[in-house]
Amino acid sequence: MTIAVITIDGPSASGKGTVAALVAEKLGFAYLDSGALYRLTALHARRHGVSWADEAAVATLARTLPAVFCDGEILLDGENVADAIRSEEVGMGASVIAALPQVRAALLERQRAYRVAPGLVTDGRDMGSVVFPDATLKIFLTASADVRAGRRYKQLISKEDSANLPRILQDITERDARDAARSVAPLRQEPDARLLDTSEMSVDLAVAAVLGWYGQSV
Ligand code: DC
Repeated sequence: MTIAVITIDGPSASGKGTVAALVAEKLGFAYLDSGALYRLTALHARRHGVSWADEAAVATLARTLPAVFCDGEILLDGENVADAIRSEEVGMGASVIAALPQVRAALLERQRAYRVAPGLVTDGRDMGSVVFPDATLKIFLTASADVRAGRRYKQLISKEDSANLPRILQDITERDARDAARSVAPLRQEPDARLLDTSEMSVDLAVAAVLGWYGQSV
């Protein structure tokens, strides 16, 4: 029997991670935040003095990434970097290295290994198109750039003293453009993915929508 997978792809700061984690909790499924793997790789490269432009060297680091997800902590070389990988700088680096085909290939099998019984919910950009093309349910979760910038702003301001909304909006727009324009696994809604626009939707409603679709698909 194939193991169920729900893929939730979409742009930065759309809230897909929050929705995916809650859906996983409700179903008792594992959860994989694939963006965290790209962020970890970018941070790992930076810490080893490897340029984000050096495809072969970054891919080598990605292949042997010493990362562990455990009880809400994200360990890199044993250090909890759950907050460090959320910085705008590391996010930008993740977007740069995610455009490199060798890096994407290096992370492919690692992502597939998270498919364990009774099921997996995963979020990213290409989870439905490349990593789990046979997923049980595929969703493209998005929200307008303004709404996403507002959500990221609130998230940052709760952790740091200051955050700059126009700058965040600009970063989000740039990152969307880079993620959508790249030749490998670009950010886009695939024909077999259901669209979930959460611009005017609460997290609870978004979770209910995903659970409803999943109920219909099994
Ligand atoms: O979802 P996120 O913002 O944490 O992702 C960080 C970066 O990683 C983002 O710019 C795109 C990239 N990414 C990707 O290319 N493919 C994935 N499956 C997940 C993330």
